[in-house]
Amino acid sequence: MCGIVGHVGLKNSVSNVVEGLKRLEYRGYDSAGVCFKSKKSELKLCKKSGKLQNLIDSLEEVDLENSHACIGHTRWATHGEVNDTNAHPHLAENIGIVHNGIIENATKLKSELKSEGMKFLSETDSEVFLGLVVRAFKTTKTLQEAVSIAFKQIEGNSAFLIMDKDREEIVAIKRGAPLVCGSQSHGSDIFTSSDPYALVGMADTIYFPEDEVICVLDIKTDPLIQFFELDGSYSKRFLMQEQEMNLELSEKGEFEHYMLKEIHEQPALIRSFAQYYSNLGGISFHSLTGIEPKLIHVVACGTAWHAGLVIKNFVEKFNKIPCNVEQASEFRYRNPLLLEGELGLFISQSGETADTLAAQELCTKSGLKTISVVNVEGSTLYRNCDENMLIRAGIEIGVASTKAFTQQVLTGYLYSSALLKKFEDGYYIKEFNLLADRIDSILNRSEEIEEIASEIYNKKGFIFTGRGSYFPIALEGALKLKEIAYVHAEGYAAGELKHGPIALIDEEMVNIAIVGKELYDKTVSNIQEVKARRGIIVTIGPEGDASLEEMSDYYIGLNYTDLGDLAPLYVNVVNQLLSYYMAKFKGTDIDKPRNLAKSVTVE
Ligand code: G6P
Repeated sequence: MCGIVGHVGLKNSVSNVVEGLKRLEYRGYDSAGVCFKSKKSELKLCKKSGKLQNLIDSLEEVDLENSHACIGHTRWATHGEVNDTNAHPHLAENIGIVHNGIIENATKLKSELKSEGMKFLSETDSEVFLGLVVRAFKTTKTLQEAVSIAFKQIEGNSAFLIMDKDREEIVAIKRGAPLVCGSQSHGSDIFTSSDPYALVGMADTIYFPEDEVICVLDIKTDPLIQFFELDGSYSKRFLMQEQEMNLELSEKGEFEHYMLKEIHEQPALIRSFAQYYSNLGGISFHSLTGIEPKLIHVVACGTAWHAGLVIKNFVEKFNKIPCNVEQASEFRYRNPLLLEGELGLFISQSGETADTLAAQELCTKSGLKTISVVNVEGSTLYRNCDENMLIRAGIEIGVASTKAFTQQVLTGYLYSSALLKKFEDGYYIKEFNLLADRIDSILNRSEEIEEIASEIYNKKGFIFTGRGSYFPIALEGALKLKEIAYVHAEGYAAGELKHGPIALIDEEMVNIAIVGKELYDKTVSNIQEVKARRGIIVTIGPEGDASLEEMSDYYIGLNYTDLGDLAPLYVNVVNQLLSYYMAKFKGTDIDKPRNLAKSVTVE
């Protein structure tokens, strides 16, 4: 989704911002632009629809070195179609802005401004905020004051960067949308962005301002980044953190796509995850056991929601605590019954998904304790929850989530064990290492999976089926395939097939059937039903099962009998690889699939 980057420094502002925007490409966008201060002390604008390269090409004539302040943006259209005019930044009366989010009362404000004679160039809601700043700046001494007045007039979740021609300064503010600032311990470059990843290797200290804190970035002040409340008084409402990420870790290396790299990272992550929490003696999980809930509301979106469905199985089976797993976009609006003694558990890779954040806020307002299962430390979800369990997946660039899913499920597994006060030394290391070994073995069989993918990728449709703990894996398998191969795929509980989807089965439909130990016979019967209707069967089943192999068109035999409750994660890697190779044969943009965004920061 939209990304914003800003830089103030002695030189090279445009290059720094473009570098930041390149890092944000993975989030999904449809146009890009920059606004910067040139030598002549006027603001220049350059924006292009399509890939970032279009913008870079159009900057060839610009004296990049002599730019001292710049704001940049990658847009994911919400208001107005994708074109150069609607792309950000927007500029009027020598004030430039970029915007992430949605201004909910934009229509009303726009007609008010129009009735005062203001003209608008674009169809965006963002330009309405620019209009408000322009209007306010006629009566205020500073841009900061004008921003404060304008910000109080808008509704909805947004983040903005604003600059004007007279100062080498950027003003930044947000409500319910991600925004960070960054500085260097040696050097005078200062930055701001919607994602700390944009600043890796450029800023070593990251500041996370809270909602409605005005950040002023100016290399002539001390400190270089100052924080204010809307009334102009100094603010302490920000969190400061050292940036630990290293750029090398976020590069593709020998892999053709980030998604493939991230699939391959899973065994090492699982091993180090077990080691990490074992060294801590499970401390961070133990501290959560003071909260022994009567019911857990597990709330998330997309892949994280599927992880929640797997975690529900652990908590209900081991802890005997009922779990209600819900998609955040539904939960937040259906007036859920939230009672004393219940807990909200929020799962999110980014920690910035708008619906998940709203659901968390709802739980807090209702007096429930909230815990996150999150990847990005310092993200909004991380800061808003009472307690956090970090999944330690490292940066995930591929839009289709892979390693984060595995780590989310494992985190849920450790949480469930901690609630049982079960954290014997070394136990999890053995269990997790076995899972990592099995995933290694399936990665070594990638060619076999690629071969199957080459034979089925152009079929009409795909139904993933599974029962019990494999049902969420079927849902996740179908989501992955849809996301990156742009084919119709559905995940179904195998036993539900005959209640509708079986009508779709013919010789052009593929059933990817997961057969586990539990309910083996019943799942095999479901495969027979598909076979009888000439469907193509790809079975993921136990190694050495000759009769099942005989029944299937393609068979992927796995040794999962000794993996216990973690076996679904092993099977899931097969689905990740199948989707990856099918998408590759289809020639899609695997890491940045069309219309999708890595982090959905609007509703
Ligand atoms: C988007 C991504 C998905 C992700 C979902 C939830 O739709 O494309 O991969 O699962 O958001 O994101 P979160 O960051 O909250 O896990």
